[in-house]
Amino acid sequence: MAKEFKIIRLEEVDSTNNEIKRRGDSLDNLSVIITNKQTAGRGQVGNKWLSPPGENLTFSILLRPGSDGLPAIKATEQFLISRIATLSVSDLLEEKGIKCRIKWPNDIYVRNKKICGMLIENTLSFENVASTIVGIGLNVNQEIFSPELMNPTSMYKVSGEKYGLEECLQGILKNFALYMALVGGKEEEIKEKYLSRLYRRGELSDFRDIKEDKVFKGKIKGVAENAKLIVEMPDGSDKEFAFKEISYII
Ligand code: BTN
Repeated sequence: MAKEFKIIRLEEVDSTNNEIKRRGDSLDNLSVIITNKQTAGRGQVGNKWLSPPGENLTFSILLRPGSDGLPAIKATEQFLISRIATLSVSDLLEEKGIKCRIKWPNDIYVRNKKICGMLIENTLSFENVASTIVGIGLNVNQEIFSPELMNPTSMYKVSGEKYGLEECLQGILKNFALYMALVGGKEEEIKEKYLSRLYRRGELSDFRDIKEDKVFKGKIKGVAENAKLIVEMPDGSDKEFAFKEISYII
C-alpha cells in the first residue's frame, strides 16, 4: 500500500467506530483509532460489545478504497473487506499457534467459541465503496467472561499465555496491508484462503433457517459472489442465505 497506517490512541471513547464517523473527513485514509476502554462498544445487529479496559484489542480502521494509492473496491465486491479483515486477524492467531476458523461472515472462532467479532460499516458512492470502517474486537488477555455471553474465549484462555496488545495490533495491520496489496488482480487468492478457513465448511451440522423457523442438517459449501452463504440442504439442493437468514446451532 502506498500509505502507512496512522494510529490514534484514545484512553476512553464510546466506540471506535463512532469516533471515526464523528471525525469524518478530518481523518486521513488508513487512520486507526484504538482505545483501552470503550464505554458503548457496538456489536452486530445492535448488540453491545463488552470488553474490560486494557485486556483486549478494540480498534477501528478507516479505509477509503480508490484514494491515496489504495485500489478501488466495487460495491458488488464489498465482501472482500470482510475477507481481508478476517484473514488478517486469523493469520495473527495462526502465527501465535492458535488454530482458528472464520465463521461467516466475519467472526473468528476457536473450536466452538468466539474469540473475535467485527463491525464493518461501508459507505457506497455509485458503484464503488467510498469508505469503510472496519471495527475489530479481539479478545486477547481476558480471563473471566460474563455468564450472559454465549460462547466467548480469548487468546489467553486458549493458550494460557498473555500477549502484548501493541504487538498483536501491529501484526494485524501488517497482515491487512499484505492482503490489500492483492486487491486489483489477485482477489482469487484472498477468496480461496477465506474459503479454506471457513468454520464448518463441508461438515454436516445443525442450522436454523430463520425465515422458515426450521432446524435442519446441512453442509456449508462456500460463499457466493453476493456474500451469501451457500449451504447444501438435506434434499441435496444448494440454498443461499443472507446474514440473519440462518443461524448456526452450536
Ligand atoms: C460483533 O461480533 O457483534 C461485532 C463486534 C465488534 C466490536 C468492535 S470493538 C471495536 C469496534 N468499535 C465498536 O463499537 N465495535 C467494534
